Amino acid sequence: MSRTGSELTDVRPVQGPPFWLLAELTYKCPLQCPYCSNPLDFAGHGEELTTEQWVEVFRQARKMGAAQLGFSGGEPLVRRDLEQLIAEGRKLGYYTNLITSGIGLNADRIAAFREAGLDHIQISFQASDETVNNMLAGSDKAFRQKLKMAREVKAQGYPMVLNFVTHKHNIDHIDRIIELCVELEADFVELATCQYYGWAHENRDSLLPTRAQLERAERVTNEYREKLAAEGNPIKLIFVTPDYYEERPKKCMNGWGEIFLTITPDGTALPCHSARMLPIDFPNVKDSNLTHIWHDSFGFNHFRGDDWMQEPCRSCDERENDLGGCRCQAYLLAGDMNAADPVCSKSPHHHKILAAREAAEKAGSDPSITYRNERNSRIFARG
Ligand code: FES
Repeated sequence: MSRTGSELTDVRPVQGPPFWLLAELTYKCPLQCPYCSNPLDFAGHGEELTTEQWVEVFRQARKMGAAQLGFSGGEPLVRRDLEQLIAEGRKLGYYTNLITSGIGLNADRIAAFREAGLDHIQISFQASDETVNNMLAGSDKAFRQKLKMAREVKAQGYPMVLNFVTHKHNIDHIDRIIELCVELEADFVELATCQYYGWAHENRDSLLPTRAQLERAERVTNEYREKLAAEGNPIKLIFVTPDYYEERPKKCMNGWGEIFLTITPDGTALPCHSARMLPIDFPNVKDSNLTHIWHDSFGFNHFRGDDWMQEPCRSCDERENDLGGCRCQAYLLAGDMNAADPVCSKSPHHHKILAAREAAEKAGSDPSITYRNERNSRIFARG
């Protein structure tokens, strides 16, 4: 963050621009992953932004200094104007990244994205075997389509970037997941342990792995890293750990309103992809320009810095390291968005994390899964 020269006397540092713009183009999705980070009540939200409105958002954010533009959803391929949005983003000088399930993709569309200047495609998988993958995706065709598209992306000259969200149902197969990635000649693989927001929080009892599962998965990943490096395989395995097994929280989004800006399908501007559930009235790009939203709105300013902190964060000598952790997690678990993230062992709500870990140890037969789909979302939207 850039700071004024008079910072010692001026307590408010000058806020730098958003660096990362995430365009959640739509909440529509052909899959039903039970760990989706979209809001539970997505079906109750308003009309999607038009092509022109999106391009205007890209223009304003770029002018402020944003450099990375991610297209996600729901499933961004559902938008028929995706090629056009990519082309406009690229023309503005963004590094563009498509985050997709691969459902709705085909060779012609990949060629059209290439033509439009798309820099990077990331395909997500649910598991390494067809049955588990399709069970989690809620679709019996998903796995084959993903395999086909991962190969096609590579054949058309993109690096192959794969994402596996890991949890209780697939984490014991991490070796098979890595073998699959090797077989596909993947370049980058994100083995991202599920984070418990949105639908994942709703399904946490069914998804949270035990500590032993997690430690084994990390050990196996490290063994593969060594083995593959010794064989000269350039694949990069990125293992993302879940904070439920930490004693200190993460510095979520690298700080609230520091570098990250999400725009939801209906134009609501958020400092993180989950913030929509917080009791804050976030601004909308249909009503205000991004400069005002980023610098002046209550929603973006409220958790900047540390003025908002209450104890134990306020007097904690580690507060600069994690800025109190994740505001969404504090709200979800403690019912108070101003509280310390309960992941922190100093939080008076840390027992909720301990209880979740304990439940993961005890879980025998799996509790039922609530799939992320329009029908279930309407039930949440009705309240
Ligand atoms: Fe919203 Fe952490 S996910 S602040």
